[in-house]
Amino acid sequence: KKGNYDHFMQKEIYEQPESLRTTLRGRLIPGDHFKAKGVLLGGLKDHLRTIRRSRRILFIGCGTSYHAALATRALVEELSEVPVTMEIASDLLDRRAPIYREDTAVFVSQSGETADTLQALEYAKSHGALCVGITNMVGSAISRGTDCGVHINAGCEIGVASTKAYTSQIAVMTMLALAVGEDSISTRARREAIIDCLGELPGVVKKVLQLDEKMKELATTLVEEQSLLLFGRGYNYATALEGALKVKELALMHSEGILAGEMKHGPLALVDETLPIIVIATRDGTCSKQQSVIQQLQARKGRLIVMCSNGDAATMCPNGASYVIEVPQIQDCLQPIINIIPLQLLAYHLTVLRGFNVDQPRNLAKSVTTE
Ligand code: UD1
Ligand code: BG6
Repeated sequence: KKGNYDHFMQKEIYEQPESLRTTLRGRLIPGDHFKAKGVLLGGLKDHLRTIRRSRRILFIGCGTSYHAALATRALVEELSEVPVTMEIASDLLDRRAPIYREDTAVFVSQSGETADTLQALEYAKSHGALCVGITNMVGSAISRGTDCGVHINAGCEIGVASTKAYTSQIAVMTMLALAVGEDSISTRARREAIIDCLGELPGVVKKVLQLDEKMKELATTLVEEQSLLLFGRGYNYATALEGALKVKELALMHSEGILAGEMKHGPLALVDETLPIIVIATRDGTCSKQQSVIQQLQARKGRLIVMCSNGDAATMCPNGASYVIEVPQIQDCLQPIINIIPLQLLAYHLTVLRGFNVDQPRNLAKSVTTE
């Protein structure tokens, strides 16, 4: 079943142009003279009014699914104008956090069986919130237990570390934002640009996969390291967290995703000539801030690996970096789908080079059905 691949994870990373295509299939609606381009999410169409009118949207999940939700938070807020709060399922339960009838609770889960997320669903239901599922497994407990939702249709994912489900979750939640915001005239151009970009996504993802050899080369320079930091912000804070999760769970190397805006409040103390730091600085509204983060890290002789948009290396790091990863620039809110791919490849190669189990990291399970 692995075909020409050595591991399921590798196969699933390479499947992403295709898995994204199936995620999007039938869901992008071309516009015409009279009608704006739009999205059709069959499972949500009867509930969009309720979501739009809710007082708050809660995103609830664990692990990679939580990161996918985080990556789309800003866009959902922008297009829906409803505040979005983030909840790790176990923490919501630990706090018995207040949830109201006027809330929309969105449960994100690849398997649809994660115990914490499922319990959070029962909790939110008992408080009367509208419960929406974003799941991959049709017929799973969360898919069945939610009031409505969207199947991401990424296909079966076998590697314990989630890859193709992550990118499809982001694509679906982007469509959710577009659907909730579809009646606004002022955001029409923005929405249409995002819809065009979604259509082009599989092709761009295919291009990014060509970075594989470069990522393998980068991995060889990191094999012996104890630790790897990733700095991100804005849409790509989630990319930093998700990249770090991949490295730690697979390559068994300490790794931490850091919100770059917090750099001066602690992490800067760790910076020296030896600790490798990946800075995600692709072009968007926050990239001039990332440019100054890079300057400050360089002033402290940090060992920088910079991810930037094609052609931006000289402007983003004029003093050079130990390594540059250039990626194609797409719509800012969809950039996390592109940016995670080199990091998935990096984690994959690091794991193989360090001799650890790629598809079944020690102590971990694909679906965590106990608390
Ligand atoms: C559905 C069909 C798809 C068909 C398409 C044609 C299913 C599973 N999907 O896709 O095969 O090609 O119509 O129009 O039969 N739901 C939840 N919670 C979740 C996920 C989904 O309640 O976590 C519900 C939805 O609200 C919906 C149903 O499950 O009622 C199917 O969802 P989805 O597969 O996303 O719907 P379509 O894309 O319309
Ligand atoms: C497990 C998996 O920890 O559960 C992760 O190893 C996954 O890859 C997490 O992100 C959440 O799973 P799910 O199925 O709810 O998305």
